[in-house]
Amino acid sequence: MKSVEFKTQIANFQYSEILKFIESQSFPVGWKETNFLKELRKKNSIYFIAYDIPDKIRNFHEHKKVLLNNKIIVGYAGVWFHKEFSEIVSVAVLQNFRRLGVGNLLINELIDYVNSNKKVKMINLEVGKKNFKAISLYKQLGFKENGYRRKYYLHDGDDAILMSLKINY
Ligand SMILES: CC(C)(COP(=O)(O)OP(=O)(O)OC[C@H]1O[C@@H](n2cnc3c(N)ncnc32)[C@H](O)[C@@H]1OP(=O)(O)O)[C@@H](O)C(=O)NCCC(=O)NCCS
Repeated sequence: MKSVEFKTQIANFQYSEILKFIESQSFPVGWKETNFLKELRKKNSIYFIAYDIPDKIRNFHEHKKVLLNNKIIVGYAGVWFHKEFSEIVSVAVLQNFRRLGVGNLLINELIDYVNSNKKVKMINLEVGKKNFKAISLYKQLGFKENGYRRKYYLHDGDDAILMSLKINY
């Protein structure tokens, strides 16, 4: 089963609790729900969610915490805009829905969205050196390594790899 079964939309503030839930399954340290609320209301950030409808998901009752507006939210990805640059802030997929193409679908949506803003020339991101799954996902979508920050992540001392994708050239 691959991502063709999932849909995407831009998230609004209603989804902050669900984003927080998915984030808490995905990262050792994270934001509070109020941080997500601020993010979802900011003018220079956009978050996409990936979802499916409950009838199509077996045992959907197990996923009540991610159910809203008759959608099961399975992942999110967010981007910030700073003039001609943008930065992927975060991407996370609910554990039971990983390796189904959701991460790829979400980052592709972000790239398309950023691409439609002709001023933006580059999408940047940081990823932990040990996070081989995410590095592989970004490389699959054309991101190239272009820098390094030693011991960047305080919780585990991992180095950060900087990656970027040129667009609108
Ligand atoms: C990284 C993450 C978002 C990937 O989401 P996903 O929906 O499982 O990824 P996809 O199914 O779209 O996979 C896309 C590619 O990523 C890589 N990948 C994803 N999971 C992988 C795994 N378990 N092992 C190896 N490669 C993996 C592969 O290259 C994969 O392509 P392929 O399936 O054609 O081989 C997900 O694992 C996650 O939420 N991790 C925790 C949060 C996180 O680390 N976010 C990134 C912060 S920078």
